[in-house]
This record gives sequence, C-alpha cells and structure tokens, in this order.
Amino acid sequence: KQYDFGVVGLGVMGRNLLLNIADHHFAAAGLDLDAEKVKALETEKKDEAVVKGTTSAAEFVEVLKTPRAIMFLVPAGKAVDSAINSLLPFLNEGDILIDGGNSYFTDTDRRVTELAAKGIHFFGMGISGGEKGARLGPSMMPGGDKQAYERLRPVFEAVAAKVNGDPCVAYLGSGSAGNYVKMVHNGIEYAIMQLISEVYDLMKRGFRWSETDIQKTFEEWNNSELSSFLLEITAEILKKKDPDTGTLLVDLISDQARQKGTGKWTSQNAMDLQVPVPVIDSAVMMRDLSAYKNERIEASAMLNGPQEGGADVPAGIQTQLKNAYYFSVITIYAQGFAQLKTASSAYSYGLDLKTVAAIWRGGCIIRSASLETFMRAFSDQPVLPNLMLDRELSGLLNQIHPDSRAVVKLAVDLGVPAPAFMASLAYYDGYRSKDLPTNLIQAQRDYFGAHQYQRTDREGIFHTIWD
Ligand code: 6PG
Repeated sequence: KQYDFGVVGLGVMGRNLLLNIADHHFAAAGLDLDAEKVKALETEKKDEAVVKGTTSAAEFVEVLKTPRAIMFLVPAGKAVDSAINSLLPFLNEGDILIDGGNSYFTDTDRRVTELAAKGIHFFGMGISGGEKGARLGPSMMPGGDKQAYERLRPVFEAVAAKVNGDPCVAYLGSGSAGNYVKMVHNGIEYAIMQLISEVYDLMKRGFRWSETDIQKTFEEWNNSELSSFLLEITAEILKKKDPDTGTLLVDLISDQARQKGTGKWTSQNAMDLQVPVPVIDSAVMMRDLSAYKNERIEASAMLNGPQEGGADVPAGIQTQLKNAYYFSVITIYAQGFAQLKTASSAYSYGLDLKTVAAIWRGGCIIRSASLETFMRAFSDQPVLPNLMLDRELSGLLNQIHPDSRAVVKLAVDLGVPAPAFMASLAYYDGYRSKDLPTNLIQAQRDYFGAHQYQRTDREGIFHTIWD
C-alpha cells in the first residue's frame, strides 16, 4: 500500500488530474477498463512522477494507502454508480470516494446516504477549468464530511490553481454542497457566454463593425478591470482563421448551440427554490432557440424587424457597451450568489459565499477580476442578501445603469436579440422597485380563484366578491 491517491476513469480529465497530482509528489494510481488509456498514462507521465495504471479494480484498491482517497472522473449518471459498485467489495470503512464529475446534486445526496450506511465517505466535487485546468490547476469545489476532508486537503490544495498564493479549493459544506456550487458556476458560465455573444452580435450585425474592431474590443475589455477568462478566449477565438478558406473560423461554425444540461439544472432548481435568475434562464432559452435552425430560416423570410439603417449608433457607444456589459456581469453573479444563499439554507449546506467567491478567482471558467470585489463584499458582510446591496457595487450600478438602458434601447431599435442585457436590466429595475404591480396579480387571483389577499393598510386575509 504505497499510493497516496487513486483516480478512476482515465479519460482526458482523469488522466490530466492524476498527472497533476503526481507532479506534486503524491504517488497516484489510476484505474480504467480501457488498457489503451492506462498505457497513455504511463507514456505521458514525467520521469520522476510515481504513477501506476491498472485495469484491475482489486489491484487498484490494494495499492492505495488507507483510509483510501479515490476520485471518480466518469460521466455523470449511471457510470458513477457502476464505478462505485465495482470498487465496493474491496473497500474498507473510513475510505473516501470523490465524484469529480458534473453530477446532479440529488444523486450525490443519495450516494452520500447509501455509502454512509457502509461507513464510506462520499464527496461530490465540482471541478472547473477543462483539460488544461485539470493538468495545470483547476478550481475545485468539494462538499461532504468535514472531518474526512482533512485526508484530502493536502492533495487538493497542492493541485488546485493559485491566486496570490491561495489555492482555489476549499471545503464548501456538507452533502451535495460541492456539486450544487459547481452547478451554479455553470449557470453563471452560460449567462456570461450568452452576454458575450450578444455583445458580438450587436457589434457585428447591429453596428457592422469590422472583424478587427470587434476583436480589439474584447481584447481591450480583457485588459481592463473587466478582465476574465471568457473575454480572453473570445478575443483569441476572434483572431483564428480557417487555414483552408482564410475566413474567420467562428464564421464557419454552426450556430446551433449544444448543452450537457448543467445550466438548465441551475434554472430549474432556481425555480424550485423561487429564486429569480432571469439571465441564466435567458441563456438556456437562447441555446434552445438556436437549435430551431430550420424554423428560423423560414421565419427570417416571413417576419420583419426594424428597417435597416433605421437606428443611429451613438458616438459614445464603445463606453456605453462596456459599461452595459459590466452592469450585466454584476447582476449575473448577484443572481448566482443569491441562489447559493437560498440553497444553502434550504439544503443545510452551510456555505460561506466569501469562500465560494475566493475559489472562483482562479482556475475556473468564470474566473474574472470582479470576483475580488465580490469576495470583499461577502467578507465585509457575510449575510449580504444580494450583491447589488453592497455599497461599492450599488454605487457602481447607480453610475452605469444609464448605459445599460442605452444599449437595450439600441438593441431594440436594431432588432438584435439581447435577452441577457434585457433580463439583467429588468432584474435590476424589479429589485429596486419598492412597489411592484403584483398587487394586481393578487387581485386577479382572488377574482377568479378566491385565492385571497393581504392588505397594506390592515392585518388579516381577505376575499372579495369582485363582480
Ligand atoms: C467547467 C465547465 C464544464 C462543462 C462544460 C460543458 O467548469 O470546466 O463548466 O464542466 O461541462 O463547459 O458545458 P455545456 O456542454 O453544458 O455547455
């Protein structure tokens, strides 16, 4: 028994993470039924790394130090259950299993309970950063038993991305806390990707800017206080030419977006918890709409938009667009963190939002300079109900909301769909409304369904015969 850590599933993510672990002087063993993948592990490892690959579950478990720490990197769903079951006969009480995939959080809760009955600790851990992140430093979001985490901590802290020396990993909470936080991370990821695509659409179809101007805009934003991984890769993507045709590669890519479902889960669960996350909802909606290619082609010949050239692009649009983008980004994180806050009490996770902001600063897909500000906000006010109520952020929103309005109006006049921009502005305007028109909805509910209402001028529950 000489190996410190085990990885099951030696696909791209599993292999890279295992090699990362081995780089940090932990002896790592890998299990995969595919002998080719086991072989790839041996050839890719550095000479000094202590790595062992095997196709035998019995041998894999046998070589691991106890209590064992074994991480699964297999597709979410049934594959996780069968991987667990294949190891179970060889495990001992106190061993720790970690699911590093994008598993649905209720599946994790079920596995935690089932395995606890056998004395085995089960962790759900979100890992973000793709292939490169896994190899060089991902952001990791573990949840599970707090004491058992101590066995994992040295390995995770060594392999995670670092920001100012701090590892982008921390114990987040009990049960499925880690998977839940990763799910919301992906919801935010969807929303920011949608927002960036709207900026691109406005500049391209709306303002008819040149490829260079569009590319430079993203590059400039990324070199400013807005700096983020998603802006960085967008600026890179918009430089890439197709070698055969010489045109921008992105222009040759089909516009039908796919999804594995994590963004949709975020929206679905937000609705269950009655937390408004309208920008995430619109991001999921636009991916869905994009799939209706044939109908869109038909509709493009039948349904009219504004007259071409019917809208003037104002001279200050560069600054307005940048501020509008910043405005929306803040509201997107505000929605994600608000969902985490509610989920934490609904599911008893015990999340600390400052810690979540801290480990999202590096390694993950939604890393951005703004996370420093969000971390500071939750550090000053751990019970802040919404990021928009932070003094610094509210000051900023107060300053730039006129630019968000200008961009939304322009999008409307140009006929460019901008649901993420619109939803963030509506969220902001709704949130800052002391009075909403939902009094009328209450009256209507009482009118047709005798659902009753409360009054603002006296206590009690009321029903009126309206007609
Ligand atoms: C990450 C990503 C990753 C996710 C992909 C695909 O943090 O590294 O969130 O986990 O699976 O981005 O997501 P979709 O296929 O749903 O777009």
